[in-house]
Amino acid sequence: MWQNLLDWIEYRIPMMRVAKMHAMEYPAPKNMNFWYVFGFLATIVLVNQIVTGVWLTMHYNPTAEGAFASVEYIMREVDYGYILRYMHSTGASAFFIVVYLHMFRGMMYGSYQKPRELLWLFGMFIYLALMAEAFMGYVLPWGQMSYWGAQVIVSLFSAIPGIGPDLVVWIQGDYVISGATLNRFFALHVIALPLVLVILVFLHIVALHEVGSNNPDGVEVKRKKGSLSDDEKTKFKMHEYYTNKYDIIDDVVPFFPHIVLKDLVAFSVFLFLFCYVMFFNPGMGGYFLEHPNFEIANGLKTPEHIFPVWYFTPFYAILKAVPDKLFGVISMFMAIICLFLLPWVDRAKVKSWRYRSGLHKWNLIVFALVFIFLGYLGGTPQEPWKVIASRILTIMYFSFFVLLYLYSKNEKTKPLPARITK
Ligand code: HEM
Repeated sequence: MWQNLLDWIEYRIPMMRVAKMHAMEYPAPKNMNFWYVFGFLATIVLVNQIVTGVWLTMHYNPTAEGAFASVEYIMREVDYGYILRYMHSTGASAFFIVVYLHMFRGMMYGSYQKPRELLWLFGMFIYLALMAEAFMGYVLPWGQMSYWGAQVIVSLFSAIPGIGPDLVVWIQGDYVISGATLNRFFALHVIALPLVLVILVFLHIVALHEVGSNNPDGVEVKRKKGSLSDDEKTKFKMHEYYTNKYDIIDDVVPFFPHIVLKDLVAFSVFLFLFCYVMFFNPGMGGYFLEHPNFEIANGLKTPEHIFPVWYFTPFYAILKAVPDKLFGVISMFMAIICLFLLPWVDRAKVKSWRYRSGLHKWNLIVFALVFIFLGYLGGTPQEPWKVIASRILTIMYFSFFVLLYLYSKNEKTKPLPARITK
């Protein structure tokens, strides 16, 4: 009877066929390593955010008068409310940790290069949507940092010549940050942006599965139909997989059970760390939940220091490094746009840094360190040496892209093996 039901469904929608092609039997490169678990973890965190978010919404009150008290109510009165809230707040930081590692993996192995440019662009749009989602979510508890953080970020738009001040009023829905602002941020945070995120993640996976996964060697496992000679076909042994566009060389393993098992190991380690933070250290010393946010929003009292949450601080440091407000805003947006352009900035012939020059390895490592250090500078009180340091590091941040563009065209790379090695 069960089989009959499945057949009945299968006849009408290709449920099992899609599940087999895109999950169970998806041909994954056999050398996928530790760095390949973060896409899966990001998916898990996305589900966590949506599920806990729905339950928080049941008790949250999106008004300037009631928001702060409703969060206190969730923490103290709602059954398991504190768990829901800490799962959601820890999830926000966890999201950025796994996404940053996921992006860095893409940079190490050149996963943004042809034919994965669109996959990378979808990823970058996800990143933008995620930043907007996190920013608006942070305003919702209506604490001091929610209020003043929103004030700082929204006022950035006033730097746009001509329309700036009107744009700020339009975004706020009022002449100041108020209940009207909170209400629209709530609508965007719980409906619009999660929808955008889910659609983008779907497109991200579709784009990935069309061209196939990259891997630490950067050797393609999917080869265009007809591009391999008969000799090569016997040498490489062909993987049995039905597509009229590609031949797949036998350097792959089915996603289930091989990759699923690796992902589950990563998931258990992740869960362990996540539970530690959630149960024992949800504020993470002010990094995941900032101290001033335990005080209700007060438009008449500015906090001593205003910092965004840690995942925005590298860009905040770039913003502050430039003395002119408009150029600061432009530099901050340029820092993100440069990441969008990476597939065209990097003109190298091989993908993975395993086969690239020492210069490239250094450039990438220095870039990662610069990003971390900028994060430190943007998240701690301003001091004279920090202003200078953040200016130097901002220049170094952009130099990464300029250097990459210059050396990648004629870069001396190691010969790429025909098949995956390790
Ligand atoms: C909600 C956030 C995201 C989710 C759920 C997600 C999900 C995934 C999954 C499941 C994979 C396949 C498994 C893996 O390679 O880890 C993947 C691959 C990939 N993602 Fe994401 N991703 C997200 C954000 C991003 C961002 C922000 C970028 C970069 C801008 C990005 C770039 C890539 C690239 C280039 C690949 C292919 C990697 C390769 O084959 O080597 N992703 N993503």
